[in-house]
Amino acid sequence: MVENAIIGGTGIYSLEGGSVEETIKTSYGEVRVYIQNMKGHPVVFLPRHGAGHSVPPHRINYRANIKALKQLGVKRILASAAVGSLNYNYPPGSLVVLEQFIDFTKSRPYTFYDGEEGVVHADLADPYCVRLMEALEKGSQQTGVNIDGRGTYVCVEGPRFETRAEIRFFRSIGGDMVGMTNVPEVVLAREVGICYGAVGIITNWCNGMTDQPISHGEIRSIMRKGREQLLRLFVHVFTGMDLDEKCRCSESIVRL
Ligand code: HPA
Repeated sequence: MVENAIIGGTGIYSLEGGSVEETIKTSYGEVRVYIQNMKGHPVVFLPRHGAGHSVPPHRINYRANIKALKQLGVKRILASAAVGSLNYNYPPGSLVVLEQFIDFTKSRPYTFYDGEEGVVHADLADPYCVRLMEALEKGSQQTGVNIDGRGTYVCVEGPRFETRAEIRFFRSIGGDMVGMTNVPEVVLAREVGICYGAVGIITNWCNGMTDQPISHGEIRSIMRKGREQLLRLFVHVFTGMDLDEKCRCSESIVRL
């Protein structure tokens, strides 16, 4: 059993050090994961977009990914998310803990509960594990990896970037950042009772926030810098902190 997992988003396709590659068969498809020993603790690494970023956000097999982690015995996930900023307090280069999400995805399989087990609702009032959010913030003080704050993540379907009007709207409803992958990933983790925490790496201003168009070069160069910081924080949380304090993530399923 491996209790801790890291899901790497854009720009994070591997962890430092040797790993054992495993293919996990699930009822939703096969998933390739990498089991690594980090300072004496086993951690599963799952690159969300596949090795080398071959799978676009709307084609990721989110259910297979989360099911595979559940089958491995995972209890906690820390995930990275490349995001555009809607908030002038979070310029490119900032690291922001995801605290809430607003879902604008359109066509993704987003639940494990399709009716076979009756009608099931997951409570997502607090979608991200409150204990993992606290651990990320405490870990940031202990490691010196700067976290700039918390925020609300707007999830869009992608793969296109947004129009200026969409960005004006997302700002007006309280969004702080926009990305394409955190929903349904965090929802599915909650459905199987896995604690899930995520940090957004702000890679660009969203369209219309400045006069500049979104630059892929800028996104890549910010990811290169943010990657090392974020992984250092994640490894510290999993190897250097006591994570046994109770939360409600595994108790939020309501069956009707
Ligand atoms: N919009 C949506 N997703 C993103 C962005 C963006 O501006 N930047 C990185 N992921």
